[in-house]
Amino acid sequence: MPHPTLPSSVAFEEAENTGSNTTDNPTLGDLVAARLSRRDLIRGMVAVSVAAEVLWPEALKAAEAAQKAPAATATFDFPELTVAPGSETHHVAEGYDADILIRWGDAVLPGAERFEPGRPNAAAQTRQFGYNNDFLGFIPLDGRADHGLLVVNHEYTNGELMFPGLTPRSDKNANFSAVTREIVDAEMMAHGGSVLEVRRENGKWRLVPDSKYARRITAETEMHVSGPAAGHERMKTSADPTGTRVHGMLNNCAGGITPWGTWLTCEENFNGYFWSKAAAEPLTTEARALRRYGAPAEWYAWGRFHDRFDTLKEPNEPNRFGWVVEIDPFDPTSTPVKRTALGRFKHEGAGNVVNSDGRFVIYQGDDEAFDYVYRFVTDGKVDPENHAANKDLLDNGVLSVARFHADGTGQWLPLIHGHPNNDGQVWLTEANGFRDQGEVLIHTRLAADLLGATRMDRPEDIDVNPRTGKVYLALTNNTKRKNDRTDAANPRASNAFGHIIEIVPDGGDHAADTFIWNILIKCGSPAIAEVGATFNPATTDNGWFGMPDNFAVDADGRLWVSTDGNSARKTGRTDGIWAVETEGPQRGTSRCFFQVPVGAEMCGPCFTPDLETFFVAVQHPGETEIGGDVISTFAAPTTRWPDFQDGVPPRPAIVAITRRGGGKIAG
Ligand code: FEO
Ligand code: CA
Ligand code: CA
Repeated sequence: MPHPTLPSSVAFEEAENTGSNTTDNPTLGDLVAARLSRRDLIRGMVAVSVAAEVLWPEALKAAEAAQKAPAATATFDFPELTVAPGSETHHVAEGYDADILIRWGDAVLPGAERFEPGRPNAAAQTRQFGYNNDFLGFIPLDGRADHGLLVVNHEYTNGELMFPGLTPRSDKNANFSAVTREIVDAEMMAHGGSVLEVRRENGKWRLVPDSKYARRITAETEMHVSGPAAGHERMKTSADPTGTRVHGMLNNCAGGITPWGTWLTCEENFNGYFWSKAAAEPLTTEARALRRYGAPAEWYAWGRFHDRFDTLKEPNEPNRFGWVVEIDPFDPTSTPVKRTALGRFKHEGAGNVVNSDGRFVIYQGDDEAFDYVYRFVTDGKVDPENHAANKDLLDNGVLSVARFHADGTGQWLPLIHGHPNNDGQVWLTEANGFRDQGEVLIHTRLAADLLGATRMDRPEDIDVNPRTGKVYLALTNNTKRKNDRTDAANPRASNAFGHIIEIVPDGGDHAADTFIWNILIKCGSPAIAEVGATFNPATTDNGWFGMPDNFAVDADGRLWVSTDGNSARKTGRTDGIWAVETEGPQRGTSRCFFQVPVGAEMCGPCFTPDLETFFVAVQHPGETEIGGDVISTFAAPTTRWPDFQDGVPPRPAIVAITRRGGGKIAG
């Protein structure tokens, strides 16, 4: 099960909100930032203009040009959904169907057993759909929009909803004894990912039975390690003296699809799976580094039965998690590869773009309060003709971390061992704790601390608009930010509702050292002045949202936002999908398209290339609300979505949204 005392999302939320970043990184241009925050003018392009007026004429010109440019994106035409504070089922805008495609426990592989509610069965789970579907990626087969592979992350498990007898809020640690070996092993098999072959027939999506592509990846699947940290001393364990072979991937949150047809799946809160907090004193160098990652956090009982999750027994095992994993979904026998060149942190996703010079660029958020935004640029170029030629493209390149200046500009600071930083000093040296590039990557957070990156309000998805080249960054919330620690890019103290930043790479070059940025929206209720939300006034009371998390930027360049953390108590609405205008006079207008059942979070927004299907992932339906009064368990869940049968618990599921009568979604 997850944490013995808290539902797992509570544990995650608390860890992410707490932050382990104790650095005091400055932000350049404090003078301007202070002036801006006093005048409360940090709003969209206005902020860039006003700040740039003072310091950066080029940025001003670019910002003004962007502001005056004609609308580059289509607008949304769907009838807005009326938000509800929490309902047992999901809701979609009028005129659309939202059909269940697959639920936790449904068959993925041939010969899979029928789902048996309440019975942990690890062997069966290896052939069934995993728990807590998160990222979704659609990869067309034969160029078709109605037939393809759907790749799915299974981020974590909610033992208290999956199996009887586990209570989410019993006394601390008391509940580990209720977690049996059978439960632990079933949980491990419910993690990881799924590859599904899906086809649309007569308007409805179905799994292709007995597909040759079907695959389940679990917390035990063997994986390779590649890139600069492969084989490093800190990657070696008793089971793997080579430091190159790992079992499983953990807490895979969002991700990305590459142009060569691979799936990038991102390990996020890996710290929660490791044990032996008690052993942390006195702190060894390694324990100190682990602490920067919040490990070991002891949210799961796995360490009771599997030594590798106990850091006393295997001190290096946590170093083998927290990576981006690349998987070839076309070959179910292929070995997933942990690409260490992309850094080790609590990866949210892997939004990406082929740069104008052919190099591949991946934007990445590290989802924890006060952590950073990263960018990886490959050394080599994408070969668009020969997919196999890109096989190891992600092993060589430059990882950088973002610094947001108060004048609306920003810099990418490269994380290269022995390389001078933008200030001319060499920080990443043995004297500062980094013997080589492998160590820089294994301890990415510590390296980024040294360079003075900007401490952000929990960076989640960061995605590129294919039409404009602009980059959107979700900062979900950070209630721990104090008044005296705000900065231009994180302007609200106790930021409960988050914001979305728009980044414009200099000269449209995603590999450039510099960028300009502005705030697209500060989220929360526009009706409450103290919240300081900045939606376009055309936004209705249904249209605003809090806690942006994941994005889908569709082929028309339209921005769709999924949320994590809205509830009756916090915003008077459940999580869901909101469509946000990004250009022209409607910029910053948002409207509600979809709402999840109570207790769930909205994940995985993903379109087919023809924009006729919108796949979304409903994660942890019925989970106990953080700070709420009602405890939700297997015996008494707050919803039994989507089966609504006595004795059947709520089940995370993928929903396929289509337009009644056919046609593009909202277009
Ligand atoms: Fe798994 Fe940052 O959400
Ligand atoms: Ca997420
Ligand atoms: Ca989240």
